Amino acid sequence: MRNITSYEDLVKNFDWSIAEKELDYQKGNPINIGWYCSDRNCLKGKANKIALMWEDYNGKTKTFTFNDIRLFSNSIGTFLQQQGIQPEERVCLFMDRVPELYIGFLGVLKIGAIVQPLFSAFGPESLFTRLENAQTSAIITQKKHLSKVRKIIHDLPHLRKIFVIDSDETSLKDKEVLLEMEKLPKNENFECYPTYAESPSVLHYTSGTTGQPKGAQHVHYSIIAQYITAKYVLDLQENDIYWCNADPGWVTGTSYGIIGPWSNGVTQAVLDSGFNSQKWYEFIQKYRITVWYSAPTAIRLLMRDGTDLVKQHDLSSLRHLCSVGEPLNAEAVIWSKQAFGLEFHDTYWQTETGAIVITNFPGMPIKPGSMGKPFPGITATVLDLQTYEPITTPGKVGLIALKPGWPSQIRTYWNNEEGFQKKFKNGWYICGDRASIDSDGYFWFVGRDDDVINTGGHLVGPFEIESALLEHPAVAESAAFAKPDPVNMEVVKACIALKPGYEPSEDLKLEIMNFVRKKLSPLAMPQEIEFVTSLPKTRSGKILRRVLRAKEFNEPIGDLSTLEND
Ligand code: PRX
Repeated sequence: MRNITSYEDLVKNFDWSIAEKELDYQKGNPINIGWYCSDRNCLKGKANKIALMWEDYNGKTKTFTFNDIRLFSNSIGTFLQQQGIQPEERVCLFMDRVPELYIGFLGVLKIGAIVQPLFSAFGPESLFTRLENAQTSAIITQKKHLSKVRKIIHDLPHLRKIFVIDSDETSLKDKEVLLEMEKLPKNENFECYPTYAESPSVLHYTSGTTGQPKGAQHVHYSIIAQYITAKYVLDLQENDIYWCNADPGWVTGTSYGIIGPWSNGVTQAVLDSGFNSQKWYEFIQKYRITVWYSAPTAIRLLMRDGTDLVKQHDLSSLRHLCSVGEPLNAEAVIWSKQAFGLEFHDTYWQTETGAIVITNFPGMPIKPGSMGKPFPGITATVLDLQTYEPITTPGKVGLIALKPGWPSQIRTYWNNEEGFQKKFKNGWYICGDRASIDSDGYFWFVGRDDDVINTGGHLVGPFEIESALLEHPAVAESAAFAKPDPVNMEVVKACIALKPGYEPSEDLKLEIMNFVRKKLSPLAMPQEIEFVTSLPKTRSGKILRRVLRAKEFNEPIGDLSTLEND
């Protein structure tokens, strides 16, 4: 039996208050995500139910019950308070997918502080930009990432504490403090800080076309949407063993890698390891995964490794598959049906939406290649590219737009209300993507409406890459843009004009690629570099990335005069 019987019935009867009621939340009362994901499950008789089954790349395993994650998040919260962390201060989590990341997330929220998860593969510059913007007070990290933090600490006056989960006291320097979760004193009766619906909770950095990444600021009330979408879209149920591939450095890894499953009191498994088809199938087989939330790039990599490998494993536990982050191509849906006997259900959303907004519901007929229909409670449409009026003609491409006001909508960009206000037109929130709607109400993704590059489901901003490139002594000017890729959908390409005295060469290309990889991250590293003598520009001197992109995609360049004032 699925949680949803019929999409039409759900739409007819849906109200967000259903989720409030199921979570025993009454307007005006305190609401705290950390408490809901741990303590509440214990109060509901799930203290001894397994919350987290964790395994790393070496095969080391750990298991935590809901009572364990309640107690350990209490301990972390108490420790942070003792270290002087105040409500609403930003605490960054900069770790691989270790248990401390998941449990620390709850601990930070329990003291009313704002949790800022950052992808542990970020280099010092990516880390610096985000910590500086958020004026982050503390960071929780691992010994293996400490050198990156040490490189930038002196330029971050707000960063008072660096908590290291796995070092030894003697090797720690100024501001560095040991935080060994399992050795902290147990705290049975921790009083959660009374956060309310609009209290800030999670700060996720996301890339736009212009400027440095923006901090999407969420509130504790977002749990209402994350809980109910996890229930109806991921179909999470009491006996499920759920696996979300995403890293909590990105929004999928928190909304549905922590809050969604645990607010539903569901057991989840975490694999702290990179992609490997064999390993992934073994993981599903070993933990008897029932619901799997993955991404198109991963699915395409699995496809590449073929169905024989699938057949060598017992994957019969699987009952529901979902995907997010980039367009899920029709072939991937058809292949998953052949390989697993189950179709991947595409889900569409963003850092800013905080929860799934358009999706293929369990049981709803899937049109392979389509993103499905709006979640009940979400009013979604496509707007005319010029007038911003809703398009009524089926199949006509426009901008995906949502009526503001759903529970998990971001409340602002950190320190950038102006940038946030720009996301609204004619009373609609503009997602920044293009799509069409067919006569059955299914949404079909077309592409982004800006220059942001989506590589393997991760957004990277051209500005951040170009800024890093300019720091290389050979680079006079540069443009970073998307180039199509059969597996990652898009990869970063850079066109570079060299400074006088530098000659183009293959070695220089490699040197520049490595330079960006180390500063920013492997994702932001250009996979291809082309040396050029000049870059296409508007009359006012703005680099026309879209012209370069269009060339890569074999698309028409369009009317350049309209780009002048972008
Ligand atoms: O362009 C869309 C693409 O990813 C963007 C959001 O990225 P981010 O904020 O990092 O969040 C990713 C995970 C929620 C969107 O604006 N995107 C996301 N899901 C889909 C998608 N593109 C096509 N199909 C999807 N299902």
